[in-house]
Amino acid sequence: THCGRILLTGAAGGLGRVLRERLTRYADVLRVSDIASLGEPRAGEEAIVCDLADAAAVDALVDGVDAIVHLGGVSVERPFEEVLPANIQGAYHLYEAARRHGVGRIVFASSNHVTGFYRQGEVIDAAAPPRPDSYYGLSKAFGEQLARFYFDRYGIESVCLRIGSSFPEPKDRRMLSTWLGYDDLEQLVRRAMFVPKVGCTIVFGVSANRDCWWDNAHAAHLGYAPTQSSEPWRERIEREQPPLREDDPVRVYQGGAFVAAGPFGDS
Ligand code: NAI
Repeated sequence: THCGRILLTGAAGGLGRVLRERLTRYADVLRVSDIASLGEPRAGEEAIVCDLADAAAVDALVDGVDAIVHLGGVSVERPFEEVLPANIQGAYHLYEAARRHGVGRIVFASSNHVTGFYRQGEVIDAAAPPRPDSYYGLSKAFGEQLARFYFDRYGIESVCLRIGSSFPEPKDRRMLSTWLGYDDLEQLVRRAMFVPKVGCTIVFGVSANRDCWWDNAHAAHLGYAPTQSSEPWRERIEREQPPLREDDPVRVYQGGAFVAAGPFGDS
């Protein structure tokens, strides 16, 4: 469980800041990158500001790395014109650079919004057809297909983490089902990076919550065994947040509010 040089994109973001702390122990050098300011590089780090939409800059960013954890991009629903350069072109630039520089493995931060139009309570696994709930979800579905293509065509391995809701604690009723604690996030990334053969694996990033909509049987080879649960927050959330109407899309669909975000540009 050690690697020469790991590239972490999106390192200035919420999960990037968490993994920036936690991944240093798995690498000689952690190369952190973001379009936003990263501050001074810390011990064992290289810090490079880079726009994923800039192909030449991404190519230089990937030069010399052994593995990539790709978190960078637009992380909420936005107009397609904003999602396209950061998430779609950005993921393409990253995989192309990985191919050119011989990087063997990428951990891709995908999202539950790839399958956000399944109903809450319905249990799906990685074989369920994508039902993206947003332009954002579409971009993550593209990223997963890109990962598949670069494995089939070039043998570059990927683990696509369909992250549920990864925050310090669950914030609402939906997150009682979708929450991914940071220890479990770290475990997933560690396994995704170091389990010997992963091919192109999709795994739902979710803690051991009481009610879960996702079955990770297809990712059993990762050996992921979550140790956290949303249960300690249930009582407070259910007390403070009355249930939504039964037909509210936020309550009906796994993607929650994303299924109803936008359209943009209409008045
Ligand atoms: P975040 O929005 O806090 O971090 C994303 C980072 O990407 C930001 O620091 C941003 O500056 C950077 N970025 C945006 N556009 C860029 C560009 N063109 N070039 C370079 N960097 C750019 O999001 P968060 O929560 O840390 O999520 C990390 C990843 O995990 C994202 O890919 C997100 O879509 C995914 N994810 C996160 C979930 C969560 O619950 N936090 C749930 C599902 C997926």
